[in-house]
Amino acid sequence: MTRKLFVTTALPYANAAFHIGHMMEYIQADIWVRFQRMQSEGNGLREVHFVGADDTHGTPIMIAAEKEGITPQEFVAKIAAGRAQYLDGFHIAFDNWYSTDSPENVELSQGIYRKLRDAGLIQTKTVDRFYDPVKGMFLADRNIKGECPKCHAKDQYGDNCEVCGAAYQPTELVNPFSVFTNATPILKPSEQYFFKLSDPRCFEFLRDWLNTPGRLQPEMVNKVSEWLGEAGEKLADWDISRDAPYFGIPIPDAPGKFFYVWLDAPVGYLASLKNYCEKQGMDFNALLNDPATEQIHFIGKDIVSFHLLFWPAMLKFADHPVIEKLKVNVHGHLTVNNEKMSKSRGTGISPLRYLNLGMNPEWLRYYIAFKLNSKVEDLDFTGDDFVARVNSDLIGKFVNIASRCAGFIAKKFDGKLASELSPSAQDWIKRALLSAEGKERQASIAHNFENREFGKALREIMEIADAANQYVDENKPWVLAKDAEKTAELHEVCTTALILFRQLAILLSPVLPGVAANVRKFLKDERMVWADTEVASGAVYKTMLGRTIGAYEHLMTRVDAKMIEDLFDAPAQQAAAAPAAAEAAAAATGIEELAPEIKIDDFAKIDLRVAKIVNCEHVEGSDKLLRLTLDVGEGRHRNVFSGIKAAYKPEDLIGKLTVMVANLAPRKMKFGISEGMVLAASAADEKANPGLYILNPWPGAEPGMRIG
Ligand code: 2FM
Ligand code: ZN
Repeated sequence: MTRKLFVTTALPYANAAFHIGHMMEYIQADIWVRFQRMQSEGNGLREVHFVGADDTHGTPIMIAAEKEGITPQEFVAKIAAGRAQYLDGFHIAFDNWYSTDSPENVELSQGIYRKLRDAGLIQTKTVDRFYDPVKGMFLADRNIKGECPKCHAKDQYGDNCEVCGAAYQPTELVNPFSVFTNATPILKPSEQYFFKLSDPRCFEFLRDWLNTPGRLQPEMVNKVSEWLGEAGEKLADWDISRDAPYFGIPIPDAPGKFFYVWLDAPVGYLASLKNYCEKQGMDFNALLNDPATEQIHFIGKDIVSFHLLFWPAMLKFADHPVIEKLKVNVHGHLTVNNEKMSKSRGTGISPLRYLNLGMNPEWLRYYIAFKLNSKVEDLDFTGDDFVARVNSDLIGKFVNIASRCAGFIAKKFDGKLASELSPSAQDWIKRALLSAEGKERQASIAHNFENREFGKALREIMEIADAANQYVDENKPWVLAKDAEKTAELHEVCTTALILFRQLAILLSPVLPGVAANVRKFLKDERMVWADTEVASGAVYKTMLGRTIGAYEHLMTRVDAKMIEDLFDAPAQQAAAAPAAAEAAAAATGIEELAPEIKIDDFAKIDLRVAKIVNCEHVEGSDKLLRLTLDVGEGRHRNVFSGIKAAYKPEDLIGKLTVMVANLAPRKMKFGISEGMVLAASAADEKANPGLYILNPWPGAEPGMRIG
């Protein structure tokens, strides 16, 4: 039976260019798609449709467009126009790139909603929604930040936590604030539409759906099962409506109400497929109803709740045929040197900068593939490792085989490969391509590609490359070439090596499609299909023996380690012009020069707390320090030394409240360990103005309260 694969990746918000994390996901999916397409070459066993789209709706895009004085549609079109340079640049071959702001998506989303309503799964409730009193509008979930109600990670969006993955309502956030104005949002009543995820039907369905073998990775089954609870008691209804003004799809029969972007976004996969089918003259409904069709979906671990709770339940109770066909592959995040990428730390990688530096996109494809497995694990990019991996595997092992042998074929044999091989050469080929137990390695490589164990597949491919290099090293064509009597041997050795090289190029082509295309040209062999990697049928020799090949041209250069230095974003504080201006302003006003700008995330790292000074005393032997005993509500006291002796008498401070940096690493000082720092103000010119003023919160503040 022909497998019909409908392959999708998460739809990127159309509010910014792609970042390297998008590329990682698309490269992963593209490799899988290319592998599948190769399975179909010559035998029609796969029909693959790989579609994507921009996720266009929601408040952030509406606001961004407003700032630029253009319509959201114009804004989205601008972003969409920039997509091709990334996708083409990294050889990512979507069959269709579309938009959630499309007639297909309106029709599909509204259709799904109507069916849910008919099934009794839509309910209206009047709820209090966050409203920014300064900006005068209801706030979308992503416009509110605060502390995650589950794991208490700071600075999390109002819909889900990027740290623990939990989904929640913005009203559950601890200490919420508007991202536009930093104002504390107020609650205003509004009638909203809910999808009744708490309905027992949803729990029963989700429990069975999740546990269908092959549907999800085991760690995801466990995670989502926890979210369901024993009997669905943890499932809460999902608010799917937003108030005008909102850039989105109108809710049928509900004037002034729009679908929350996360309702119509995943419907965008279907909208893109429908649009693609229309362009191709294919029957969309027939494709979705075909039992041979599967949807294979790739997403990051941060958006799991939307894709493994709401979306499947929505599809199910809208009777959508795609629900039974859906398999979801979740991947981790891309980290740099084992840390989350950060522009301000100078560890952000811009995909366009990568390309503009002349770095080969297939280096990155290989590196990413080498590090990927089927688990939900983060993937770390380290510069040295990248250089070493690419240079060692692709140049030192793979390309090296051709570069050492092709010249002799051109020079000594008019470009023609030997027409037959001795049993010993054939044995070498078998040894390289079969496992010790005589099994076809290509089958195991195919198994690993199929199961997204790309790293394993590449390690096996490199074992073949090792065997091929060992063959060349042992037979030394450069020595044979010097001996006129060894011409036939030279011919055989170079032919054998190039047969193995062709095998490697075929096996690597899902990852290195550009190189594979050049190998085709070099070998003058347009075929190069996966089926040619079979040893048992003799397919490995098929098009090679007696073939006239083309001239060898470099297939790939080495990575220059210097490129890596240029790859990273400059750390944010190095924006050169600012200090001069700040210095001038400071000189004019007499205040101390401002420190380089930081992001809210940087500030959030500093944990400032209200502290009660429970004791204060002189420090023997020090004319600057006072020893403070502080209570920050932790159930223990902290010892802090502070250089405020000149300004305060100990007895005047005891019992007062102040502000301290509570998460400063403890510091060993001459007089003992200081467990934090008390904040005090002082003038830039201490001589002219020697005053020192410790901070004192307004009445009502209590020890342990966080300041921010
Ligand atoms: O997290 C994101 O970038 C979302 N735009 C992903 C949406 S995936 C799908 F639902 F469209
Ligand atoms: Zn959390």
